[in-house]
Amino acid sequence: MTWFKGLFSKKHADEQTDTPFQDNATAQDDGFNRFNRQAGAGPKHSLPTFQGTASDQLREGHRGPLDQVRFRLRDAFTPSRPITRPQMFAGRTHILRSLIRAIEEQHLHVVIYGERGIGKTSLLNILADLAQNAKYLVRYVSCSEGAEFENTFRAILRDIPLLYHRDYTPTSDEAEQGKTLEDLAGSETLTVARATDILARLSNTRVVIILDEFDRALNPAFRASIAELIKSLSDRSIRVQLVIGGVAASLTELIDRIPSIRRNIYGMQIPNMSDEEIANLIQNGQSVSGLEFGPDVMRFITSLSCGSPYLASLISQYAGIIAVDRESKLVTRADVVQAIRQSLDEIRSRLQPTLHYRIDQAYVDGLGPMLGLLACTALNAGGTLQPSTVKELAATEGWQDGFLDNLDKKYNLVSKIPGDPTDSYQFSDEGSPTYLWLRYADHEICRKESGKNT
Ligand SMILES: Nc1ncnc2c1ncn2[C@@H]1O[C@H](COP(=O)(O)OP(=O)(O)O)[C@@H](O)[C@H]1O
Ligand SMILES: [Mg+2]
Repeated sequence: MTWFKGLFSKKHADEQTDTPFQDNATAQDDGFNRFNRQAGAGPKHSLPTFQGTASDQLREGHRGPLDQVRFRLRDAFTPSRPITRPQMFAGRTHILRSLIRAIEEQHLHVVIYGERGIGKTSLLNILADLAQNAKYLVRYVSCSEGAEFENTFRAILRDIPLLYHRDYTPTSDEAEQGKTLEDLAGSETLTVARATDILARLSNTRVVIILDEFDRALNPAFRASIAELIKSLSDRSIRVQLVIGGVAASLTELIDRIPSIRRNIYGMQIPNMSDEEIANLIQNGQSVSGLEFGPDVMRFITSLSCGSPYLASLISQYAGIIAVDRESKLVTRADVVQAIRQSLDEIRSRLQPTLHYRIDQAYVDGLGPMLGLLACTALNAGGTLQPSTVKELAATEGWQDGFLDNLDKKYNLVSKIPGDPTDSYQFSDEGSPTYLWLRYADHEICRKESGKNT
């Protein structure tokens, strides 16, 4: 329980001096009001403009060095978009190595799970890329609420050319006409058995089917079909492997349906990122954007992120934008402090109004610090509030017995994890720990920073 200690008490001189950016910018560009750069600037031209075109070109009047940094920043930190480019993918090498081994050497189906924002989709994107480089046929499906086996697997079969079917040579008429495995499915309902029969005839390739956001697929029939498919593919050693990503509960359910598939599955919980991995994420963003995050600032962002790549990316992006708005390439601690507030506003806007209300009630009752510290605990432990950790925290903070029960019954902010043998709790809303932690950090840090500056 030491990760947040020091964050608020750390003596930080913010040793870096924030030198304004200087380079080959023309004198006219220096400190020049962006909006007045356009020809004929005047009242009617004072609206802000897009700085780039839809084809990713910087527009006339927006080509100063800082404009370029601002423009590159959108690819440097992408908290709202999973990583797709290997050069932007930080850390996780040992996880990738294990997943590759499970697929390539053990021919297992893979299930990865973890909290939202922990980096599952990014990991799956990079895994897909690596498999494609090794000539696997990779088909990626992001499951939707109404996902059905028939539609999903028809689309997958439609994407596999007939030339990979052992009964058709690449020069056969059908293969040359661009037919696909879906043409073999006919018009009758595509059952798991029929799909397995078709996939059993694959030759000369291996197929990896990625089913991401599996927890979003609410249809029990779909989940049951996937469990059945894993069983039949494994029983017949078919050259197709499923890689499934989602939050834990949906995947436990998947395995519970057919317990015997457990031995055909390699399951992995995606852990929080280490400090080195978060630093690596910031360094990647630094190289792409041209911004500079000093070591002190990097440590600050790392401790605020609680191992979440999403939080690290969000705070770094806002801090970068704030630095560029100051016409500087150097991101300072003060920029990060402002970035916390802006990140908090963004996350708050996504919470349900009833959740706002319940949190605000708890704050009015003086429970803000407790919620902040519990949120930090949950973020560091894959979303769970384990009794041993919580007990230790309660002893340090002097909380009365029964505080979790109170947060559950009175405010409905936490709840017992159903069926958990350790009697752990979790936050009732999956988005709330991030919000509560940042709200606490904002309050504590701003209080300290303003004390320091006065
Ligand atoms: N390995 C990584 N390197 C750099 N950034 C990452 C990495 N993993 C995740 N991120 C960042 O965190 C955000 C959330 O990741 P994502 O893959 O969408 O998580 P999940 O699928 O678990 O919800 C992404 O938008 C991305 O910016
Ligand atoms: Mg995802």
